[in-house]
Amino acid sequence: MSRIYHKRLVNATEMVNAAHKGKYAIGHFNINNLEWTKAILEAAQETNTPTIIATSEGALKYMGGAKVVVGMVNGLLDELNITVPVALHLDHGQSIEMAKKCIEAGYSSVMFDGSHLPYEENIAKVKELMVFAKNHEISVEAEIGSIGGEEDGVVGEGELGDPKQAAEMGATGISMLAAGIGNIHGKYPEWWKSLSFETLQALQDACKLPMVLHGGSGIPQDQVKKAITLGISKINVNTELQLAFRDATRKYVEDKKDLDDDAKGFDPRKLLAPGYKALKATFVELTTLFGCANKAGK
Ligand code: 13P
Repeated sequence: MSRIYHKRLVNATEMVNAAHKGKYAIGHFNINNLEWTKAILEAAQETNTPTIIATSEGALKYMGGAKVVVGMVNGLLDELNITVPVALHLDHGQSIEMAKKCIEAGYSSVMFDGSHLPYEENIAKVKELMVFAKNHEISVEAEIGSIGGEEDGVVGEGELGDPKQAAEMGATGISMLAAGIGNIHGKYPEWWKSLSFETLQALQDACKLPMVLHGGSGIPQDQVKKAITLGISKINVNTELQLAFRDATRKYVEDKKDLDDDAKGFDPRKLLAPGYKALKATFVELTTLFGCANKAGK
């Protein structure tokens, strides 16, 4: 058994370990389509930035399935001659079967999110996945506690991670650990005050692993920086890129450029161009904040 993924992909282990040691965080960016993927890969190459591109199960289904995502990413890596380290990661994999399917299709990294399961079942499944993942040189992310987020219009705070569970998860050989530390997917509601740095510190002391901050959009910069000093080595971003894309596309439409038939403003390559540029600019802003920009080596 050996790695299945494309020679230009890497798993995320080395990247997050270097980030953990060097006190910066790798950006994990969720992709939705060709524009997203191309924008991130180009910006990563232009800024010499190691990067994780990720799909949720929903996004990969939207794009047609794991093989479509893998084909698109591998094709871009070749055609754009991307040489910075890039990992292709399954975000919030809900089952071992889905994680294995993505690995077999050519992903180099997977998250198994067993946070909805009783803890004993969560860790048993992580251990089961580790055997398969090790055989294929795949990095694995697990989760304890839970990340807050919106469900039926109610924004939940999530559940803080437990240090004992963090230590046990660390011992399974995973590359990185996600944990509830007061973080929330999507826009942060007004009542939200802060990440729980006390929890983060306790979890880091217990597992000593690179840790993952989900819900990376909209956290105040000083909190992001502090979290990195306390062991956060990968930061997941989805909403912030979507908002940047939305704003730029909205401006194009509000300026009525889509209605300029003489200039062929209706051409999707023109219509999507401002959003695409905004994605690249947001990538540069965030990776500068996370400290991973220009960390790809020469
Ligand atoms: P945001 O959408 O809040 O950036 O969260 C992304 C995320 O955590 C994906 O796993």
